[in-house]
Amino acid sequence: MYSTRKVKEDLIYVGASDRRLALFENLFPLTEGVAYNSYVILDEKTVLLDTVDSSVSMQYMENVEHALNGRTLDYLVINHMEPDHCANIEAIVYRYPEVKLVGNAKTFQFFEQFYTLKDSENYHIVKEGEELSIGKRTLKFVMAPMVHWPEVMMTYETSEGILFSADAFGAFGALDGNIFADEYDYRGRTLDEARRYYVNIVGKFGVNVLNVLKKFDNLALNMICPLHGPILREKEDIDLLVGKYVAWASYEPELQSALIIYGSMYGNTENAAHFLANELANQGIRNLKMFDVSKTDASYIISNLWIYSHIVFASPNYNGDLYFKVDNVIREALALSFKNRKISFITNMSWGGKALKTMQELLETGKNIEFIGEPVEIKSSLKQENEASLLALATTIAQSINA
Ligand SMILES: Cc1cc2nc3c(=O)[nH]c(=O)nc-3n(C[C@H](O)[C@H](O)[C@H](O)COP(=O)(O)O)c2cc1C
Ligand SMILES: [Fe+2]
Ligand SMILES: [Fe+2]
Repeated sequence: MYSTRKVKEDLIYVGASDRRLALFENLFPLTEGVAYNSYVILDEKTVLLDTVDSSVSMQYMENVEHALNGRTLDYLVINHMEPDHCANIEAIVYRYPEVKLVGNAKTFQFFEQFYTLKDSENYHIVKEGEELSIGKRTLKFVMAPMVHWPEVMMTYETSEGILFSADAFGAFGALDGNIFADEYDYRGRTLDEARRYYVNIVGKFGVNVLNVLKKFDNLALNMICPLHGPILREKEDIDLLVGKYVAWASYEPELQSALIIYGSMYGNTENAAHFLANELANQGIRNLKMFDVSKTDASYIISNLWIYSHIVFASPNYNGDLYFKVDNVIREALALSFKNRKISFITNMSWGGKALKTMQELLETGKNIEFIGEPVEIKSSLKQENEASLLALATTIAQSINA
């Protein structure tokens, strides 16, 4: 049975959600599933925008057939060739053999690399800014290279200002019947999951994101239809998310406050991290956030690195070096172009090691990263003698936040 939703007149949501998948890209935990969005436009020509992941193929094919309501399919626009959106291209071609596949040169290179079908007679190759009239509506293709793959493009419907934005503006989380951002608590969980999606999947490519956003400076954006998560149609939701994208892609913090990321086996480093947090709170700092690297998946911690202006890393020495999971968070963040932050350190040692040196050497490779305050080193457990240095570090961080 079909499971479609009307987006607006002659625009139908034909995507589907997967609530079973544990890890997106076999990396990022999904607590509430993920949606693979796809859309049908019914005009003089019929158009399908992207397909979905293989996990929801059966539902998807029923949805497309229902949406087309007996008509054949004229165009399949391929905005992104990643398999979570392309698993059904071949099935669509077999079902609608006349369909023209719309993509750029790279799209078809990847298509032939990933799949066995070579259907070059049906390729409709488009370039930057090219338009395709489908009747009352016209589709304009906007290249979005490296957001987050080389072949990515976006499709802009010109008469109503609808942007089919590929992975950009997407979010983790299944769609639960509701498909619009304004039907969810968008400013809460959904925005957090849009951030976690952005930072972990697209975070490295801020420059490319800003370049694409510039192309829409003079175009009305009345609706954004991403490939994951809810559709945005209210101006305030669109403005909010576009504003967030500019901040995230510019690596500008959202909050002037401190994020404390600690690793701890026996609780002593954690104790020091908490002492510092309490003192920051005593000094009036709000919205403090602490993460235990062993408890919380790195994707959530890294998402928060994009929020906070000030970061404290606290780590024990472990076999002479940095605690593995602290090391991992720092390396992943730097691999995603983490920058523009103020950083402080707490380490714990019983006989020695280069935990502090490793953190400093790693983070020195990031752009515009400033170390503030004297690093605090505790010996095995927190003692009265550490009080003054932790209070001093808290004061330095608080003054910097309030500056
Ligand atoms: C497997 C293991 C390796 C350790 N390696 C070091 C080390 O290389 N240098 C060091 O000074 N302390 C080392 N320690 C001791 C820790 O510094 C000490 O246990 C400290 O209290 C850990 O902090 P925590 O209570 O926050 O886990 C190690 C401890 C463990 C369990
Ligand atoms: Fe993707
Ligand atoms: Fe995707």
